[in-house]
Amino acid sequence: MNTAEKTTTAQNAGNGSSTDGMILRLANISVHYGAVVALDGVSLGVRKGEVVAVMGPNGAGKSTVLRAIMGLAPVVAGEVYWHQQRLAAATHEIVKEGISFVPQGRRVFTHLTIEENLEMGCLYLHDRAEKERRLDAVMELFPILHQKRRDLASQMSGGQQQMLALGRGLMAGPEALLLDEPTLGLAPIVVKEVFQKVSEINERLKTTIFVVEHNIKGVLDIVHRAYVLEKGRVVHDGTPQSVRETDILTQVFLGS
Ligand SMILES: Nc1ncnc2c1ncn2[C@@H]1O[C@H](COP(=O)(O)OP(=O)(O)OP(=O)(O)O)[C@@H](O)[C@H]1O
Ligand SMILES: [Mg+2]
Repeated sequence: MNTAEKTTTAQNAGNGSSTDGMILRLANISVHYGAVVALDGVSLGVRKGEVVAVMGPNGAGKSTVLRAIMGLAPVVAGEVYWHQQRLAAATHEIVKEGISFVPQGRRVFTHLTIEENLEMGCLYLHDRAEKERRLDAVMELFPILHQKRRDLASQMSGGQQQMLALGRGLMAGPEALLLDEPTLGLAPIVVKEVFQKVSEINERLKTTIFVVEHNIKGVLDIVHRAYVLEKGRVVHDGTPQSVRETDILTQVFLGS
């Protein structure tokens, strides 16, 4: 890349384009589902302690970004790096490496209690005292889970189930948390609460967070940086301010 190109990229990208200090990074990842190109040479990442959003319209490839990290997508080219090392562990091993994934759709175990659901987040952990310590920490962060610890998850509201899904993700004691559409289908007041909790997790536990979101306005208020995807490609990256100042979102959402 010549100097002129570098300058242009840096300007387009706000402060986001450099890969310096990124602990989790996709480098030129392409994912194909048969004839469907879900990701086409996507490079993006998150630095230690950051909250970073991945935004874009339906089908842009947002979930595929997270699924590629977790070894759940058919990657045909590119690499995922975790702490500068190629991440090639099997999906169930990745959580032990320090990455926890909360998928789209709040998949809680409705026939289990809140406490049992949380314990599912660290099944591999055999140290009972450590498990208790994590349970206490999660319940301190989400008092509602403490209050309802013996209730079945099926008895919780949608918002409470989302808190449970977040709590279960934290039970793995992750260094990085991947959240796919944590506010989908929730009432506005609950959306606000979920975003507050995501910020609190980042600030209190110092967890690095990648969050895929539809709720542009809300998520831009809580992230350090954001990527905008359109048809499997990154079309913008930078600070929330840089996203607000461009008309990129109007372009990709309204196709103008
Ligand atoms: N298992 C699959 N088989 C075939 N095509 C798939 C599969 N999963 C995703 N796709 C396709 O890949 C593209 C990207 O999908 P992806 O789920 O990553 O989008 P998204 O941005 O998360 O969308 P949404 O906002 O609707 O959740 C879409 O065209 C989708 O139809
Ligand atoms: Mg999705």
